[in-house]
This record gives sequence, C-alpha cells and structure tokens, in this order.
Amino acid sequence: MKKSLGARRFIYPLPVLMVGSYDENGNPDVCNVGWGGICCSTPPCVTIGLAHGRKTLANIRASQAFTVGIPSASQEVEADYFGCVTAKVVPDKIEKAGMHAVRSEKVNAPVIGEFKLTLECKVVEMHELGSHIQIIGEIVDAIADEEILNEEGGVDIAKLDPILVDPSADTYHRVGERIGKIFCDGLALKK
Ligand SMILES: Cc1cc2nc3c(=O)[nH]c(=O)nc-3n(C[C@H](O)[C@H](O)[C@H](O)COP(=O)(O)O)c2cc1C
Repeated sequence: MKKSLGARRFIYPLPVLMVGSYDENGNPDVCNVGWGGICCSTPPCVTIGLAHGRKTLANIRASQAFTVGIPSASQEVEADYFGCVTAKVVPDKIEKAGMHAVRSEKVNAPVIGEFKLTLECKVVEMHELGSHIQIIGEIVDAIADEEILNEEGGVDIAKLDPILVDPSADTYHRVGERIGKIFCDGLALKK
C-alpha cells in the first residue's frame, strides 16, 4: 500500500554544493546549496536554486558568474558553516572557516583552494519560481586537484569523497559502495 506524503521535496540524495561568488566590492562569498545539479549535457550546465535574500543571489545577479566547489567529507563542518552564516553578517566567513579564495582564471568568481573539485560557470538563464530563483550556469571549465584523479584523468569518487544530504532528516552522508556500471547493466534486460 502506497501512502501519500504530500508535495514534498524528496529527491535522494542531494549533493552539497559550495557556490562561490563575488560581491560588488570584489569580496568573495561561499554559500551551501542543496537545490542543485547538472541540467544539460551540451552545453554542460548546472542548475542551482537560491532563496530571495541570499547575499550569493545578489552577487550572482551582478557578476553573472559563479563557481561550484564540491566539498569532501573531511570538510563537512566548514561546508555546514557556509550554510549557517551569511556574508551580510560575517563578510569574512571564508577566512573564519580557515579557507582561502583565489580569482577564477575563467569567470568572475572565486575558487576556494581547499575544495578539490570546482566548476567555473557563467550565468545563461535565471527563472523566478517562488521562494527560490533557479540559476542556470554554463560550465566553462572544471578544475581538480591531481590527487583525486584516476588513471584515465577522470575524478575518482572515492578520492573526492563528496558529501550527500538527506533532505528529510537534515543529515549529511558519505557515498556508499559502487553497485554497477552505467549504460551497461541494463543491457541484460534488452531483447
Ligand atoms: C545543507 C544546506 C543546504 C542549503 N541549500 C540551500 C539552497 O539550495 N538554496 C539556498 O538559497 N540556501 C540554501 N541553504 C542556506 C544558505 O546556505 C545560507 O542561507 C547561507 O548562509 C547563505 O549565505 P549568503 O547569504 O552569504 O549567500 C542551505 C544550507 C544548508 C546548511
């Protein structure tokens, strides 16, 4: 028997994304974003949802650019902090977390050096949805620390060790074990 749970935001798991932006004075900000992901293959695009009032939203409206850092499980405390404090009140929140921002070489947004993987994005569309504004950014480049790369030059998910969110329990999680291969295992059912 299925039970209706109402119109709730159940997608499991959610990624933890660290959205970096500059304010009008060039001060870097980082904001924890759970409402986000990849939304187009070609051109490669990300979608993020930002609530009205976020400093990060005002920053991106002005700069038309942002970065998406992928934090590792060892950085869970810093990642949560970036979701607990606003740069409107704590303008040096990055330094307070012991992290460091440098200017992206590709877009007008900061790269947090401590995150091992970062997407550099330019805004292509913004949509007013209600409580949140959907921002779609084209990925101009992805930069990674060599230590998380595999032999083929891709990212090794175990070395990156990204953080996942359970949106109904408000808890952070780690990625579990590999269970299969994309575009491969399903072929067993293809007649
Ligand atoms: C796990 C987590 C996920 C969050 N997801 C979002 C989100 O998707 N969109 C959003 O606008 N705020 C989200 N927040 C809240 C912002 O990160 C928080 O308000 C932050 O302080 C905003 O910083 P800013 O005002 O400097 O941009 C999230 C917070 C946490 C802890």
